[in-house]
This record gives sequence, structure tokens and C-alpha cells, in this order.
Amino acid sequence: MPQDLIVGLDIGTTKICAVVGEVRDQQVDIVGLGSAPTAGGLRKGVVVNIESTVRAIRRAVEEAETMAGCEIRSVYAGVGGGQTKVINSQGIIAIKDREVTPADMERVIDTARTVAIPSDREVIHTLVQDFLIDGQDGIKDPVGIHGVRLECKVHIVTGAVTSLNNIMKCANRAGLEVNGIALQSLAAGEAVLTDEEKELGVALVDFGGGTTDLAIFAENALRHNFVLPVGGNNLTNDIAVGLPTSLTHAEELKKHYGACLNALTDPDEIMEVPGLTGRETQSMPRNRLAEIIHMRVAEILNLVAKEIQRARFIHPLHSGAVLVGGTAMVDGLAELAGETFGMHTRIGYPMGVSGLIDVIHDPSYATGVGLVLYGFRSQQKNQRSPDRWSSGGRWSNRSSGGGFMAKIKKWFREVV
Ligand SMILES: Nc1ncnc2c1ncn2[C@@H]1O[C@H](COP(=O)(O)OP(=O)(O)OP(=O)(O)O)[C@@H](O)[C@H]1O
Ligand SMILES: [Mg+2]
Repeated sequence: MPQDLIVGLDIGTTKICAVVGEVRDQQVDIVGLGSAPTAGGLRKGVVVNIESTVRAIRRAVEEAETMAGCEIRSVYAGVGGGQTKVINSQGIIAIKDREVTPADMERVIDTARTVAIPSDREVIHTLVQDFLIDGQDGIKDPVGIHGVRLECKVHIVTGAVTSLNNIMKCANRAGLEVNGIALQSLAAGEAVLTDEEKELGVALVDFGGGTTDLAIFAENALRHNFVLPVGGNNLTNDIAVGLPTSLTHAEELKKHYGACLNALTDPDEIMEVPGLTGRETQSMPRNRLAEIIHMRVAEILNLVAKEIQRARFIHPLHSGAVLVGGTAMVDGLAELAGETFGMHTRIGYPMGVSGLIDVIHDPSYATGVGLVLYGFRSQQKNQRSPDRWSSGGRWSNRSSGGGFMAKIKKWFREVV
């Protein structure tokens, strides 16, 4: 695998997707994409069957390899928000020479990081929230500022060791090394949000198959994340029960005719609904499907809206909301979400890359493309200050010694 290739592996509840990026002139070109149904390997974002997941990873990776004409050996993988928890922590140090140096900045972040993490959890990200100098908050880059006391507030995103271990195990069994693991929402944010949106405040909602994840970005940092264990699969179930039809046909009807009520212009539009075994195909108004979808989607949106309202008290979300994930493709969802959230809402298509942009123009590829960009930016940071960012060694190389905790000790550390 050439050095300049970066691969994102999105292990989702319904599909696994591998996205290959090639770095050219400090820009990422998407050169390959592979996607395979997870086929029962995951439930609500959690690996529940290793063999099915490994098979799906292999299929997705092979497809991506064929498209990119390369061999994939290592990936950046995503972890769902449902498997993570955030610990807020604070560090404080004396500024040695009365002027903050990069070393002081590192030291204060390290101090903030030294909190007791339960033995069954491991740090995935240390996200700086704010720097304070002599009590003055809101400092984004403290280097060069005079003062005596430097403080730093961080969000430490931790993952259950067992979940991370399962992701590693699946990737390793599929013959892949894992360069790094990132929170899926953080990765998706890399692909669909502009710097301005992240600065002014934005709610990123990932409507996947098994879960709906909300991530709040403001003042250029991830401030909050929240997960609902419901998603597009629930819509499919509701449709199958409500029409009624089989799950396979319900899924097809949803993708083909799926809409929220407010998106339908023709109330007389008719669709053919294949009956359950032994029953005849029926003609039904498309409205019926939209009613079923509307009910579930409205319920999910209302729950997300409550969480957004809570976050808004602390962080104004001037940039509105952005929807990603496969379910975001339901006709009229952005409009309904906009009404429910009371803010401008758009669908998030991957951007900030070149190459196969038509192929990845799909909100369900936001996490996969985001993982490539996340990997690219992590590598850039490593190159800029190798002492600070890198840890050396790749994950699968470490499997020879010491068990998961020993492996994990060497994870490359990064601060976003
Ligand atoms: N055109 C479409 N219209 C409506 N729903 C769609 C469409 N395309 C895909 N979906 C739905 O999107 C869901 C899959 O989305 P996505 O690929 O983002 O999920 P995932 O990453 O596999 O799951 P999760 O993020 O929940 O772990 C499925 O429920 C699928 O039915
Ligand atoms: Mg997903």
C-alpha cells in the first residue's frame, strides 16, 4: 500500500464502507470506494457477530481495492457515539517564563488529560474546549500571551475497551492494520462541515440505520454528542408492519418512495406494495407510506430537537443543522427537521476532497470520507510535531505483545 494512500473504514449498522484517498499536493483525491451490507454483524452500532462483520469488511475493502487499483493494508476506523462517553477535565500550570510557549500548551493539555479513566475504558480523543490565562477564558491559541497561570478545559472521549477491541479484531481478521480510531460524528464533521459552521455553532445529525447521532460543534470544537438507539431500520420495520409487507420490500419501498408528508406534492400518487407470502400485491397511495415514515421520523426529530435546545442554552448554533447518514435521503426530511429544530437545516454531502466526487456524493458516505480526512489531518499533525502527536507502531503490529491495554498504550495520541 503506497504511503500516500489513506483509507477510511466506516463500520455501520447496515453497511460497511471503505473509502480510499490519495494525498496529492496536500489535497485528498478520492480514488476508491467499496460498500457491503453488514448482514447482522452489528446491532445499533455495536459489533455483535465477528464473522459477519469480517466478511463484510473484506467485501467492502476488496471492492475499494478494485476501484482504486491498490492493495489496502491499513485503515482509520470509526466508533459509534453509543460506545463512547465523555469525561470533562481541567488542567492548570504555572507559566514558566511569563509567556506561554508551545511546551506550556502541551504540558497543560497533558495535565488535563491525567484523570482517572476506569480500567474498562480507553481514551479515543482529547478535545480542547478552552484555554484560560489568569482566569480569562475564550483563548484559542495561548502561545505568546503573557500571564502567570495557564488553564485548559478538555473533553476526553473514551470508548469501552471491549467495543474498541472488537473493532480492532474485525479489522485485523480482515487482514487490516488500524492506524487510528475516531468518533464517527467527529469524522463526519470533517467531511461535511465548513470551518465557519464549526466556529459559529452547528448541530450535525447522523441519521443512520441503527442509531441517530447528534454532535454539537461550536467555536471550532466538538462540544457535545448524544445518541438515540433508533434509525432507518425502525422506519423499515414500521413500514413492514404498517402496510403490511416483507422487510425486504419495505426497505425497497422506503428507498424508492420514502418521503415525509410535507414533501408530497401529489396526494393521489399510487405505489404497488407486494403482499406478504401468499397475499396479493396491493395498490396504495404513496401518502400511506409517508404517514408511517412521518410518524417515526417526527418522533426521532423531536427527541433530537430537545437535545439541541439544551445545547443551545450554552452554545448558540448560528449555522443551523446538517443532516448526514442514509436516512437523510428520505424526501422532505431536511425541511421537516428544519421546522422541528427551528433552524436552517441542510443535507451534508462530503466535500473538501477531489477525485471521485460523484461517487461519494451521498450523505451516507460522510463518515467514510470523514475518516480519510481525519487520517490525513492526523498525519499532517504527526509530521509537524512528531514528538507530540505520534506514538509509532501500528495497531496490528502490537498484537504480538501484551494484550489490548498494552497495545493501546501506544496509540497515537492526538488533540483536535
Ligand atoms: N434513499 C434512501 N431513502 C431512505 N432511506 C435510505 C435511503 N438510502 C439509505 N437509506 C437508509 O439509511 C440507513 C443506512 O444509513 P447509513 O448507511 O448512514 O447507516 P449505517 O452507518 O450503516 O448505520 P449506523 O450509522 O446507524 O450505525 C438504512 O436504514 C437505509 O434503509
Ligand atoms: Mg453510520
